[in-house]
Amino acid sequence: MSNTQGYVDVVLGLQWGDEGKGKIADFLTPNYDVVARFQGGPNAGHSLEMNGIKHVLNTIPSGIFHENCINLIGNGVVMDPVRLMEEIKRTEVAGANVKKNLFISRKANIILPTHKLLDAASEKDKGDQKIGSTLRGIGPTYRDKYGRSGIRAGDMFDPNFTEKYAETIKRHLALIQHYDFTEFDLESLENEFFQAIEELKTYQFVDSEYFINDLIHQGKRILAEGAQGSMLDIDFGSYPFVTSSNTISGGMTVGLGVAPKHVRSVKGIFKAYCTRVGSGPFPSELFDQTGEDLRVKGHEFGATTGRPRRCGWLDLVALKYAVMLSGVDELIMMKSDVLSGFEKVCVGTGYINAKGEHVSTIPFDFVSAEFESAYTEHEGWSEDLTTVRAESEFPSTFKSYIDWLEKEVGVPIKVVSLGPDRVQTVVRN
Ligand code: GDP
Ligand code: IMO
Ligand code: MG
Repeated sequence: MSNTQGYVDVVLGLQWGDEGKGKIADFLTPNYDVVARFQGGPNAGHSLEMNGIKHVLNTIPSGIFHENCINLIGNGVVMDPVRLMEEIKRTEVAGANVKKNLFISRKANIILPTHKLLDAASEKDKGDQKIGSTLRGIGPTYRDKYGRSGIRAGDMFDPNFTEKYAETIKRHLALIQHYDFTEFDLESLENEFFQAIEELKTYQFVDSEYFINDLIHQGKRILAEGAQGSMLDIDFGSYPFVTSSNTISGGMTVGLGVAPKHVRSVKGIFKAYCTRVGSGPFPSELFDQTGEDLRVKGHEFGATTGRPRRCGWLDLVALKYAVMLSGVDELIMMKSDVLSGFEKVCVGTGYINAKGEHVSTIPFDFVSAEFESAYTEHEGWSEDLTTVRAESEFPSTFKSYIDWLEKEVGVPIKVVSLGPDRVQTVVRN
């Protein structure tokens, strides 16, 4: 690789999503020319906070508030024209130059109104076995993509788009009927869909694989922003309680069309504790007052759906697994401030199965068998961390907690986040 070549750094979540990817991607953006999303869709809710104002992004990459940053929605993303247009409008009102700085891959698959209905119908049909989907149509849209019958962003410009749309809808309606699902008004959903399509067509669409590789050859620095988290990965998460895309670093290469040789580093984000939205195993989940305290102190309510997040202690088995899968070079620890005031801070260091046996890897029967976490306890710290701006101000118990974690995982913790705002971030030497 010549010296003038650009590179890609990947930033992604190592847990069950909501680690703080939006905040960190925005914080890191001044070091990059491009921020690109490579998978997921509007199931994501990425919060950014600056000058006391909070913004939530779903499909638009988190570099959009930086004046000269190119933001790319990659081919691996599934995009809902209706939600994306709403998001564009509120982001423009908040001051971002979306017309100039947002680029959308022609190969990104489109979420149709009936994909959302299919999501709802399927979840209803599953009853208490439901995934706890965000109901944004993610699963059905990826199913059509991999079934080779999806509709892509570039198809919006095809004169035969409405025919293609009608054929797909016909197939979907037959499926919806099979589910005996009747709670919808398709006409009004279609009206807003076609109106959004016309508005969206005035934005910039590109052949994103050429676009991004050209930028790399021009020496540009790319930040690839993941959505969801490693434990929600379609292959490696707690299947079937996962999302429908590859959330690990490998997802970047196919979700953007960038070869692995261009990857410079992988930055893995984790919360100092754990949360999960929706169903599925969570061995370190807390059902007591401590869990409630984490939820309240950490404002653990979904940025996309408002659902209360399940809360628990940090799970090192899952964290090490995610670090392995993505080849994480450096760690970023979020929401450490939330742990201030807890007398003890626990960390799950293994699992115990129903037979009382200890397990230190993610087992194949993670979903079907019952596992509980085995914990290591740490002394807590009482100091408020939200005003800390340098590593030298870290309380000693907090510092020893970080040092211990680094040693356990074997990867340096390079950034520590101590509040939702951009400025509440400490880069460690
Ligand atoms: P994402 O999906 O990974 O981008 O994360 P979300 O935005 O869904 O959830 C993270 C939440 O934590 C948001 O409300 C953020 O504003 C907030 N947040 C991010 N970093 C910190 C932090 O270090 N401390 C605290 N207290 N809140 C944070
Ligand atoms: P960000 O990017 C947390 C969860 C849902 C559900 C499962 C499948 O904000 O971290 P889906 O709608 O994808 O079919 O839902 O995945 N989920 C998330 N949880 N953060 C997210 O995104 C999530 N996106 C999906 O709650 O359990
Ligand atoms: Mg989120």
